[in-house]
Amino acid sequence: MAMNVDRFINDAISEIQREVKGRAIIGLSGGVDSAVCAVLAHRALGDRLVPVYVDSGLMRQFESDRIEQLFKQLGLVRVNVQDRFLDALTGIEDPEEKRKIVGETFIRVFEEEARKIGGDCLIQGTIYPDRIESEGGIKSHHNVGGLPSTMEFKTILEPLRDLYKDEVREVARALGLPLEISERMPYPGPGLAVRIVGEVTREKLEIVRRANAIVEEEVMKFKPWQAFAAILGKATGVKGDNRVYGWVVAVRAVTSRDAMTADAMELPWEVLRRISSRITGEIPMVARVVYDLTPKPPGTIEFE
Ligand code: XMP
Repeated sequence: MAMNVDRFINDAISEIQREVKGRAIIGLSGGVDSAVCAVLAHRALGDRLVPVYVDSGLMRQFESDRIEQLFKQLGLVRVNVQDRFLDALTGIEDPEEKRKIVGETFIRVFEEEARKIGGDCLIQGTIYPDRIESEGGIKSHHNVGGLPSTMEFKTILEPLRDLYKDEVREVARALGLPLEISERMPYPGPGLAVRIVGEVTREKLEIVRRANAIVEEEVMKFKPWQAFAAILGKATGVKGDNRVYGWVVAVRAVTSRDAMTADAMELPWEVLRRISSRITGEIPMVARVVYDLTPKPPGTIEFE
């Protein structure tokens, strides 16, 4: 069933005005969902809305500065809490536990910011598939199943809760958001934490961030649904004349319509070969690069 975009926009703005009496915080990650939500909430509330960008240290290369730049006209507040996230994640290997820690840390930061402005409402860009995957027990998306059981917020408002990603993009275009936002590929809220299989460390974050930048540089022109790098573990390799026991980087590029199912992308062999030689050549501690061929199901898009 086709969505009536204009009606959706008007209804969402009315809902926000009805539900929010005082001031509200919106968690803005720079992705299309939270950006659409922020523009709708800004239209509804004006400067009673404070968009908060949490620099968790789990973001891609150059991302935080880019987002600060893009949204400064909405009065964006940037909170730098990289160490807090890393400390909370130290020693944690289980993916669901990692998501819950990330979800809780986000909420605590939002609560602190809400206290500063005297607001008790949190607006989030949660969309329909986030809820389905969390409720179906597949993954506790950090902004749904990963939320802590007690929160200071009186209201949590999710204006995009019934939309699929392609519908959110339609709304983004109708709102006049720039292409780099409306067409931006999805990125998970827990970010690089779910692209490091096992414990998150500073070293692994640095490596996966650099590898990811290479994958994006080489693959985005093929218009994947998502393309990224992840760290799987360690393996033996040889560089120059020396044995290295280095990291195994997985490259994943998928096509999809709504993230509920996905297929591995058939990238040209020379592109895969260039990605492999760039990652092992430009990042000293990487010993191997593998390409993930698994569709969803039985795989998922992210590794954790
Ligand atoms: P999976 O890995 O379940 O991912 O196939 C489906 C889509 O959801 C994204 N994803 C997340 N997004 N919080 C999010 O905001 C999360 O915890 C999360 N986990 C996965 C993933 O990137 C893909 O687009």
